[in-house]
Amino acid sequence: MTPTSKPRWDVERYEASHSYVWKFGEDLLSVLAAQPGERIIDLGCGSGQLSAKIAESGAHVIGIDYSTDMVAQARINYPSSKHPHLEFRLADATSFAVDPPADALFSNAALHWVKDQPAAIAAISRAIKPGGRFVAELGGRGNIGAIMESLGAILGGAEEKSPWHFPSISEYAALLEANGFLLRSAVLFDRPTPVEGTAGLDDWLQMFGGVFFQGMPEPEKDSRRRAVADHVRPRLYRDDKWILDYRRLRVVAERVAS
Ligand code: BEZ
Repeated sequence: MTPTSKPRWDVERYEASHSYVWKFGEDLLSVLAAQPGERIIDLGCGSGQLSAKIAESGAHVIGIDYSTDMVAQARINYPSSKHPHLEFRLADATSFAVDPPADALFSNAALHWVKDQPAAIAAISRAIKPGGRFVAELGGRGNIGAIMESLGAILGGAEEKSPWHFPSISEYAALLEANGFLLRSAVLFDRPTPVEGTAGLDDWLQMFGGVFFQGMPEPEKDSRRRAVADHVRPRLYRDDKWILDYRRLRVVAERVAS
């Protein structure tokens, strides 16, 4: 993707209505078990909430994100004057570099945005020192299956237009092992995710699914989003709540000497 086609993020909407992204991610912090004095990368740090939580351990945290808007917001949320153990960098997950390599790399709900997974895992491997750990959670195979089906039914070609890749355990295991990792655990599990309000799915589509509606006039975008919501409602709307069909792939791996 060229810098000019880089997607823009509505950071205000993200922080106001999508805090579940980092709240669910907190669960992964105990798996990371950051230690004082460690250097830890938070890849796909968004506006910095989990980076800040990791830094509370006394580790030095390098938050990395591909979005200029997110990195700018992270720096506003956690200025270096008040958070000396926290820094934010703008970089691409497929080509970022950290010198010297870190003790651990953490990533929550970010890596499924990277289509070129082999390049990302190669960059991740270079960024972790031997003996270091990789702790990540991302959308796994079958994630948001009902939403993808409804996007396809209403708009056609959902898989081709999708900005996401949701890997299986075997795909990720092979990639990790080919890039100098010993895979300690990999779990694929359903994590139904409630979003707020009767317009919860519409809001989610506006936040994350813009690419599917690209090139349409605004009124058409609105009506198509509503059509997608109506199509998937029988599967995901219960007791006045949208509960999205998230499925997570959680991996823990150790970087071994290559
Ligand atoms: C996810 O976290 O699974 C996800 C978030 C936004 C778009 C697609 C998937």
